[in-house]
Amino acid sequence: MTDFTRRRFLAAFTGTGLSAFAGCATPFSRGGRGPSPPIGEGDQDSDETFNPPTYTPPEPTPLPDPDVKRTLRATAATITLGPNATSQSWVYDGQYVGPELRVSEGDIVEVALQNDLPAVTTTHWHGIPLQNAMDGVPYVTQDPVTRGSSFTYTFRAEPPGTYFYHSHVGLQLDRGLLGPLIIEEDDPHIDYDREFTVIFDDYLNQPPEPLSDDGRDGMGGMGGMMGSDVRPPYTGLLADGRLPSNPRTLDVAEGERIRFRFVNAASATEFRTRLAGHQMTVSHVDGRPVDPVPVDEFVFGPGERYDAVVELTNPGAWQLRAAAVKGDESPARLDVRYGGHDGTPQAPDWGGRRLQYHDLHARDKISVSGSPDRVYDLTLSRAGRSYTWLIDGQAYPNAEPLDIREGEHVRFRLRNHSPVTHPMHLHGHFFRVGDALMDTIRVPGHMGQVSLDFRADNPGNWLFHCHNLYHLESGMARVIRYV
Ligand code: C2O
Ligand code: CU
Repeated sequence: MTDFTRRRFLAAFTGTGLSAFAGCATPFSRGGRGPSPPIGEGDQDSDETFNPPTYTPPEPTPLPDPDVKRTLRATAATITLGPNATSQSWVYDGQYVGPELRVSEGDIVEVALQNDLPAVTTTHWHGIPLQNAMDGVPYVTQDPVTRGSSFTYTFRAEPPGTYFYHSHVGLQLDRGLLGPLIIEEDDPHIDYDREFTVIFDDYLNQPPEPLSDDGRDGMGGMGGMMGSDVRPPYTGLLADGRLPSNPRTLDVAEGERIRFRFVNAASATEFRTRLAGHQMTVSHVDGRPVDPVPVDEFVFGPGERYDAVVELTNPGAWQLRAAAVKGDESPARLDVRYGGHDGTPQAPDWGGRRLQYHDLHARDKISVSGSPDRVYDLTLSRAGRSYTWLIDGQAYPNAEPLDIREGEHVRFRLRNHSPVTHPMHLHGHFFRVGDALMDTIRVPGHMGQVSLDFRADNPGNWLFHCHNLYHLESGMARVIRYV
């Protein structure tokens, strides 16, 4: 489709720089990698040396004057994850996690992204079905924002729900360019006294790099069979930017009802989540309200959000934990402490009732039913021994767009030919799976199948991709194109 190669594309996007790849087929193989360069070095030319792909950024449609105006400054900063644990990284407004943007349903929101990074960047508003020109996908919906310049995103805050924003360039999300975005609903279907947003993430104490191409040893050096996966060498799992050795404590009172807004902002970690001593009642999925489901635990993948209400009826000191489904780091942790209970917080036992997708029943009207106007059968797989992940045999950006027409009921039938779970995310639309609406869904490994349906009601060019960032970077994406 274009003459640029994927490797050049990756180099330009990851901020690791073209030089890292020069003359070296497996630049990050075990033993072959020197110390990490200081952040930002080696990518000084990344926004000048690249032939962009073929999509013409759409013209934005003007919106009314903003109700909320913010600036987000993307910058290199030193972040603190716990005592004696600081790290150089790239973040928004000098803080990790980035500032919570909290707006009301229907607000016109204007956010000026100021790029003070030593690389190009964009910001994506994950889950919000905004107009295409504001979606923040480089070379698809906009040109990337160059160093020292800015881009203003404007959108109407709807529908209400729990979202997050993050960089959509290369592996920048795994540096920490992310933050929560909450659109408060006028009329929630659940009762609660207070709410807390909780961001789970995996933490890399070095600049992220694409995983190895040779299928054996990746940057984590885990070794792997054909088709299996490697993970980056994470140093820990974080809740709200803190290591489990330094957890945030929520001081609570018996009888309170707390709404948690859980966001999985990790780049390569599925979390199994549970609060000791309590059930959670799941009330929203990817921001959309569902009939409340009481569970003991739930699992969620990168890009997914779950809201849950907890009734505080069991005084004590308790840990809320999010453990990696695959990965041996200590679980991310948050403490919930009732007044007067000073002891060591108790860790949860695992087991009991775990949320399943088929437990979820949307409270919104679902705009697709019956038979689709257009069906795509798409396999998810890995390209042999190379660390390249494919949608229907193709690696983005050397991949055909999936064409649809406005108004159509579209169905994707996904079939996972790899042993690895893929959290697949669609931009610009909610889709229906079973009786639920969501924007990200885990497709289980070993021939797992998911059928998702959506109404083509938001024209533009939209990315559909795996939200494992390393899979995405290696090619696991397609553009959905309205024709
Ligand atoms: Cu969180 Cu392409 O998105
Ligand atoms: Cu994947």
